[in-house]
Amino acid sequence: MTPYRIPFNKPSLAGNEKRYMMEAIERGHISGDGHFTKQCHALLERELGVAKALLTTSCTHALEMCALLVNLQPGDEVIVPSFAFVTTALAFALHGAKPIFVDVRPDTLNLDEALVEDKITPRTKAIVALHYAGVACEMDALLAIGNRCGVPVIEDNAHGLFAKYKDRWLGTLGALNTQSFHETKNFTCGEGGALLIQDARLIERAEILREKGTNRSRFLRGLVHKYTWVDYGSSWLPSDLLAAFLLAQLEACETIQTRRRTLWERYVRELEGWARESGVSLPVVPEHCRQAYHMFYLLMRDGAQRDGLLSHLEERGILAVFHYLPLHQSDMGRRFGGKDGDCPVTESVSGRLVRLPFYTCLTDSEQGEVIEAVRSYQGR
Ligand SMILES: Cc1ncc(COP(=O)(O)O)c(C=O)c1O
Repeated sequence: MTPYRIPFNKPSLAGNEKRYMMEAIERGHISGDGHFTKQCHALLERELGVAKALLTTSCTHALEMCALLVNLQPGDEVIVPSFAFVTTALAFALHGAKPIFVDVRPDTLNLDEALVEDKITPRTKAIVALHYAGVACEMDALLAIGNRCGVPVIEDNAHGLFAKYKDRWLGTLGALNTQSFHETKNFTCGEGGALLIQDARLIERAEILREKGTNRSRFLRGLVHKYTWVDYGSSWLPSDLLAAFLLAQLEACETIQTRRRTLWERYVRELEGWARESGVSLPVVPEHCRQAYHMFYLLMRDGAQRDGLLSHLEERGILAVFHYLPLHQSDMGRRFGGKDGDCPVTESVSGRLVRLPFYTCLTDSEQGEVIEAVRSYQGR
């Protein structure tokens, strides 16, 4: 049990999770690629219009599949934002790449497209576009750079399922795109993810990598008489029990997103006056982006004001958190050549950001308490 009255995150049930999991058990298929996995694939492909969806055991593992699909060789480079989750870089580093850390825009905190082209070399194998908080990167610019330089763009869309960039779904714009269904995400099965493939030439190999390097998918379709070891890979397909849980959540997309939008808009409405007076910035969502309502964050004036707010909330039983620590300044980032001052926006934002409790089952009165507690913070 959390010692906090209002935790930072809580998994929210959509309604049909237990029933679908029981049904998976009754169907007698609880390993991967059963009835519910197929339903999840079909739903994602239908709703997003993506060529192929493959559930994975995590977003991290979907990113690892991307590393293999772009054929990384030792010494190759992958461009990643420094303001990112560890595995956005780790998944590629694990497969031999040197992460090239690029700074983010001060408004959306997304990869700064104006800095990317200068970082591209003959060894660049991918540009990873992480849509922070489910607000799109400037995809037209990134895709144009990718096309010009012959480098695929991979979307790390862990935060952004059902968000749009200029009327196009996030997770369908890159050649390869990854989703997370971790407990903290809008749609969850505890631990899980997906690889969304838009470049149809990569589908067959992705199926092989995900199935332990075997051509089992072709065997199951009756295309080969027996299946065997044909490539690298791992065991990246989740149990159908998890897919059953996830399907219940994905089917409730509208209810979940409507509730999260209401919560997000209330935070803005009731905190904007306080923020203005306190020199605090609220999230920026450009006009041409439909966001995913994944998180609500405050950008405080400085680190002291941020730490003060975190303690102030903690004393009132409310858990707020910060992230990400700049990857270029992490122990591993330094091993890849990262130095203080390389990404000034990331360094500044990382020291000032606060994420408030934000989850689908946060009640109106709990949210009211968080808002009151924030507004009573005098640290200016
Ligand atoms: C941007 C981003 N990418 C990747 C991940 C990894 O997701 P998973 O836990 O599903 O591996 C996360 C997790 O929070 C994330 O925020």
